[in-house]
This record gives sequence, C-alpha cells and structure tokens, in this order.
Amino acid sequence: MTMVALGVPSMPNALSAPDTGPLVDTYGRVATDLRVSLTDRCNLRCTYCMPAEGLDWLPGDALLQPDELIRLLRIAVTRLGIKSVRFTGGEPLVAKGLERIVAATAALQPRPEIALTTNGIGLGRRAAGLKRAGLDRINVSLDTVDPQRFAATTRRNRLADVLEGLAGAAAAGLSPVKVNAVLDPGTGLADAVELLRFCVAHGYQLRFIEQMPLDAEHHWDRDTAQRADGVLAALQAHFQLTPDPAPRGSAPAELWLVDGGPAKVGIIASVSHEFCGACDRTRLTADGQVRSCLFSQREKDLRGLLRGGADDDVIEAAWRAAMWAKPAGHGINDPGFVQPDRPMSAIGG
Ligand code: 5AD
Ligand code: SF4
Repeated sequence: MTMVALGVPSMPNALSAPDTGPLVDTYGRVATDLRVSLTDRCNLRCTYCMPAEGLDWLPGDALLQPDELIRLLRIAVTRLGIKSVRFTGGEPLVAKGLERIVAATAALQPRPEIALTTNGIGLGRRAAGLKRAGLDRINVSLDTVDPQRFAATTRRNRLADVLEGLAGAAAAGLSPVKVNAVLDPGTGLADAVELLRFCVAHGYQLRFIEQMPLDAEHHWDRDTAQRADGVLAALQAHFQLTPDPAPRGSAPAELWLVDGGPAKVGIIASVSHEFCGACDRTRLTADGQVRSCLFSQREKDLRGLLRGGADDDVIEAAWRAAMWAKPAGHGINDPGFVQPDRPMSAIGG
C-alpha cells in the first residue's frame, strides 16, 4: 500500500484549498471515496455501537431529504472527483428512499461505483431491487454465526434474517459478498474461526475489523479489544494463510489466501497499524455534515448551506475547505486522544 509521510503538511505554502481539481488535503491525500450515512437509526443494538435503549435519534427534519442528498452526490461526483460512493447508517435499509438514491447515483456521469454496508436484515427481500437500481457491491456486518452470541452482541435474535440477507445478496449477483466482523473481547477468537469456516463454505469474503473507540457509551478498552495479530494467530491454528499476491492499493484490509485460495480473508488493523496516510475518504452524515475523518472533531454544515439557498459553487467550496483541514490521522494511539462526540452509528462506517 502506498503510504504518505504525514509528519509535516506537504503543501505548507498553499493557504487554502484549491477551487478546482481533486479533493485534496494539506498532506496531499486525495479523497475519491465518499461514505454517506443515510440514517443514524438501526434495528440492532450492537454492544460496541449503541446502548440497549438506542440513542436520541436525529429528528426527521434534520435528515437530508433524498433530493437534497442527490444534489450533494451530484456535486461530489461531477465537481469533486468522487469515484466511489458507499451508503451506510446506522442501518441504511431502514432509511427512506434507498433504491431511489442508488438509482440517482448510478445515473451520474462519470458513473461512480456504488456500495452498501448493511446489517443484512431485510436484504433478502431487497437485494435484487438494489442490484437493479445500480448497486455494485455489498458488505454485510456479521460478528458471529452462533445464534446465542449473535443475540448477545446485537441484543436482538435476528441471526436467521442476516443469513437470509447474505443468501439474497449472493443470489442477486452482488458478488463478491463481503462480511465485516468486529470481534467480541471475550468470545471473539472462537467466533472468528467459525465465521471463516462459514464464509469459505458460502463463498463470502470475510474481513475482520479492529474495534475502534466509536461506541456511544465510551466502553472501548484498548487492553481487551481483539487485535489483528491475535486474530491472525487464532486463524492460523486452523487454516493455512498465505499473503494475497494481488496489489492492495489504498484498501485498508490486509488480505490472505485461505488454504491456498481462491477463498480470501482480510484483516483491517485500524487501531494497531494506523493506515491514515493512504486514506482516500470523505464522509457525509445523515444530517448533511461533511466529516474529513471518522475521528474529526469538526464538521462542515452542508445542509444549512443547501437550505439557505447556496449555489453549487458555494457548496463545492465548503466541501473542499472541510477536506483541506483533514487531520493527519485518527490519533487513537496518542496520549491526548479524544473520542469524537458522534458515535459510529451517526457518522457512518
Ligand atoms: N469499531 C469498528 N467497527 C465498527 N462498526 C461499528 N462500530 C464499530 C467500531 N466501534 C462496524 C460495523 C459495520 C460497520 C458499519 O462498522 O460492524 O460493519
Ligand atoms: Fe446497527 Fe451497525 Fe451499530 Fe450494530 S454496529 S447497532 S448493526 S449501526
């Protein structure tokens, strides 16, 4: 993976964001991948994300309406050089107008690649329609295939719905179907081995993601969270893993061939091997705020500009200014690290 040295801004002489060209920051990174949170709501309550009672959801009028979002997507693709768009949540399948938003995104020129990160509930019924609307790729979150442990982690007894969602995605031709897993500090290593067996058997591509300090209750604990090296060692006790020879680009997952391939497993060491130097992302929250990083302490309010009658030039400039100020990295391992106010469900993973 290409890494940019992030010690000193590489464009120290430029005082403000360029008004044209790619979406660049002071370190010279270019954002081409847009993550859009469509809602902060969810029908699960994963312990590493939300409290059992849920959160104070954003009120309906705070959320971008589909037409407002579609306008921002057009600006992102036609003016800012965004090449891929991923819809997330909360849970994007509970958001209003998903199929219409996907279709409108697919109609943009140049057509971006369109992906969805979902918990899979209801996907069985909607996968084919989403594919028809233009969805290219899908990631389904699943942390364990043990029904009791699934219910303990998500506080809902919905494993069967998620499995049906995965099967629906594969049947709709949304391949490769990727599975994202965040492992439990206690049972995670056993879950990891079972999950990989399950994913290999079904042809799903599994990726483990180190848990990051983005839970609403601030329970994240560096000492008990599963780390990439421990996960790798646990898998190696059961599978033969060899490094995937394919180039990694800016993708954060380190990929391994399982038992000689073609099955692959990915490990995303978001905390233990910071890869912020290769970050190509910009983010939009469900209430229309640009975040340059998951861990930003600052946001830029595009919804206010939109509703105040701003033209495309003004919105474009605001987005560029927000990205120009992108921090060097998440800083989770720095002594002065401060967790952002918004939890993952309100930012979009
Ligand atoms: N750390 C890492 N990943 C997380 N996700 C949710 N919360 C966290 C966290 N604290 C994952 C979900 C889903 C994606 C949107 O982000 O499991 O796959
Ligand atoms: Fe919902 Fe995803 Fe949060 Fe789980 S991690 S509660 S599926 S938003």
